[in-house]
Order: sequence, then C-alpha cells, then structure tokens
Amino acid sequence: MQLSVIGCGYLGAVHAACMVSLGHEVVGIDVDPDKIKALANGDAPFFEPGLPELLRTAMGTGRLSFSTDIADAHGAQVHFVCVGTPQKAGSNAADLTYVDASVTSLIPHLRAGDLVVGKSTVPVGTAARLAAQIAAETPGAMLAWNPEFLREGYAVQDTLTPDRFVYGVPEDGSAATALLDTVYAQALAAGTPRIVTDYATAELVKVAANSFLATKISFINAMAELCEVTGADVTELADAIGLDERIGRRFLNAGLGFGGGCLPKDIRAFMARADELGADQAVGFLREVDAINTRRRVRMVDLAREVNGGSVEGKRIAVLGVTFKPNSDDVRDSPALDVAAQLARLGAHVMITDPEGIDNARRRHPHLTYVSTVAEATAGADAVLLLTEWREYRDLDPAVLTKFVSSRTILDGRNALDPAVWRAAGWSYRALGRQ
Ligand SMILES: NC(=O)c1ccc[n+]([C@@H]2O[C@H](COP(=O)([O-])OP(=O)(O)OC[C@H]3O[C@@H](n4cnc5c(N)ncnc54)[C@H](O)[C@@H]3O)[C@@H](O)[C@H]2O)c1
Repeated sequence: MQLSVIGCGYLGAVHAACMVSLGHEVVGIDVDPDKIKALANGDAPFFEPGLPELLRTAMGTGRLSFSTDIADAHGAQVHFVCVGTPQKAGSNAADLTYVDASVTSLIPHLRAGDLVVGKSTVPVGTAARLAAQIAAETPGAMLAWNPEFLREGYAVQDTLTPDRFVYGVPEDGSAATALLDTVYAQALAAGTPRIVTDYATAELVKVAANSFLATKISFINAMAELCEVTGADVTELADAIGLDERIGRRFLNAGLGFGGGCLPKDIRAFMARADELGADQAVGFLREVDAINTRRRVRMVDLAREVNGGSVEGKRIAVLGVTFKPNSDDVRDSPALDVAAQLARLGAHVMITDPEGIDNARRRHPHLTYVSTVAEATAGADAVLLLTEWREYRDLDPAVLTKFVSSRTILDGRNALDPAVWRAAGWSYRALGRQ
C-alpha cells in the first residue's frame, strides 16, 4: 500500500520506517527541513534503539522517501497524522495548532476513498471535528483515529508488535476498518487484538491509559512519602503489594516520577478537556497525581541539601542521567533535568552526564555544565545523584567511583542501586522512599 506519514518525530519516523518493513511504500513528511534531510540520508534524527538499522534497510528498499512538501502525500491511500500535541503555553490544554495545520494542508491533496488516520494524542472531540472538515472539503475521504501506545526506547518493537490496535471510526466505518486492516495485516494475522470503536472512545482510550499509568506511578510515590516519614521501605512495599495479581509490580517503581513528552502533558490536557465538558470532577484526582509527581523533584533537591549540611551552594553535585527515562534522548519535561536545573539555581556546581541526552538538554538549559563521562561528572563531587536509571549507571562499581569523588554520598533517585553494595563500599546511600 502507498502511505504517507505526516510528522516525523519520535512517533512518525519510527512509524514510517516500520511501515516500510511491513512491505508498504511510504513518504514521510515534516515541516522541519533538518529532520527531513537527516532522514532522507538514512540517519535517525534522534536516539531510538533499532531505528538506525531499520531506517537504513528501509531506505535500501527504495520504498521510503522523505519530503517537506505536503503535496508529496498525494497518491497515498492512507495518511498517518503523527504531529506533536504539546501543552499550550500558559494552560493545561493541548496545543492543536500542529494537528490542525497538518490536516488543513493535507486536505487539498486527498482523493475520494483516501483515509486520514490520526495517531497523535488529542483531546476527545478532535476527531469528530476534523472528520467534518475533511468531509466538507473532500467528499469521500475518510478519517479514523488510531492512537499510538509505543514507548520510547522500545518504539520499533512496539510499532511492529503492539499490544493492541484501537480504531476509532465513523458510523459506517467498514471501509476505514478494511484499509487499516490491510496496513496492519501482519500483526493482525499474528493475533494482535483489535478494538474497533467510535472516535470518542478511541481518543479516550489513549488518555485513559496514560492517566492510569501516571496514577500508578504517583500512587507508589505517595507511598514513598509515607515511607519517608515512618522509616518504612517503599521498594519492599512495592514488591509485597505487586505480588497481588490484581495490582501487579510493573509501574510501581518509586523514585523521581514520570516525565517525557506524553504522560505529564496528557494528564493535564485531559483535565483541561474534562473541564470544558463540565466533567472536571471525574478527573480531579489527576491534579493530585500531577502534584505528587512534582513533589518528588522537590524532595530530591531537599535530600541533596540535607546530605550537604543544609545547602548546596558551592557544592559539586554529579548528576548521572538527564533524559526522562533510559534508552531515550528525550528530555521533554525530564525530572532529572528539572532537578539539575533547580540545584544549579541554588548555587551548586552541577556536572551532568548522560549517554544520549546531553545535546537535547543543552538546547533547553545551555547554562548548565555537561560532560561526557561519569569520571568527569563525579570528579571532586560532594554528592552523586543517579537521576535516570541507564543500565551503565545501575551497574556502576562503587569502588571505582570512590576514586573520583570527594565525598562518598550517593542519592539514588530511581531506587535502581543495591544499598547494601554501596554501603559495604563505605558510601552513604540515600534514596526516595527508603532509609
Ligand atoms: N513520543 C512518544 O513516545 C509518543 C507515544 C505515543 C503517542 N505520542 C503522541 O504522538 C504525537 C507526536 O509525538 P512525538 O513525540 O513524535 O513528537 P515530536 O515533537 O517528536 O514530533 C512531531 C513532529 O511533527 C512535525 N510537525 C509539526 N507540524 C507539522 C506539520 N504541519 N506538518 C508536518 N509535520 C509537522 C514536527 O516538526 C515534529 O518533527 C503526540 O501527540 C504525542 O503525544 C507520542
């Protein structure tokens, strides 16, 4: 099938390359000329494991091209809209500028029978509005909403073998469903569940899923707050409650909380949309979920002050990890970057290192100091903060680190280290939610 993918960021670039590997012919379109130039050269414009190899193979087939000209979408039968929906400045609501602009620019190039497929995360009601616009301007063209659940760091695998497909389709959605079934034929044949529903349900599935995940993280972080005042251990608590199958252990890792380009802005946009719909009480709990999450960052800064005798001013603080999670270079709403910036504001000499996130972090916070290695970051450090649990930081040998630091003090912001090992090596180990 001929497909277009509009918006080639973390979602769209992976989607485009994966669709080629499924046998389709794809044109990827983006308004960012640098991104398109890199992609057209077969280079991934961001770090995502497996993407460079997949891109190179896809380019080699001759079935993947990239363009900044939306007119090149003409001729494709299915058009995936993968543009960003960030938080609006000064508001909790989602900024739909990019979704609206991309659909409006695409419409003149649509033909009757074409299917526009929204993959971006949008407030409920967006699909119905866009469907009406498409129907008015290109009769016979259709719209479906097919939310994306990929996780950065596992995006290739999640796109090729997702947990489920959700299709939000119009009332007579058989043609739209048939087209999407053809696109996803391989995964469907392998038994991937598929839920065909209306637009509103499909839109809500995505934000409901993210709200649930955010709530689970903030729940365990709320328990961490209680553990801190009672002397209990949140990791043992999580292990114990997680053994109950109804609860489950995943997403119960207490620590610095969630961040990234999805969960924080999605729960805020959900609250804003519910407010517009007069249903704000239904998701009022998300305000607390958000507040608990933010409090963890403050607690980490307080802990850094505490271990430094009440003030970090003039202290050397090593920050290990700056991305919002490991295996990604994404620093959007990164708790680690936030903590590093707060410590710098308090007068600490913060030395940040990260395997993949330094360039993005520097763009957002150019005044902070970034170094390439753990040795440089920890040289003369009064405290070492593990803020993103990259494998190489989890595996650090305290005996090796001892050679660099000036004080053997480690703050484990992700409960990723074994306290016994670090204490045995003479370190003072502190973490969120345990002694
Ligand atoms: N990143 C994830 O893990 C993930 C997972 C699931 C869903 N989502 C959702 O997918 C959407 C995209 O997220 P992302 O992380 O890929 O964002 P991103 O910022 O990495 O990518 C968005 C891209 O859209 C491009 N764009 C903006 N306006 C355009 C236009 N008019 N025409 C063509 N291109 C345009 C931008 O230049 C950018 O490259 C968001 O709604 C997000 O919530 C993201």
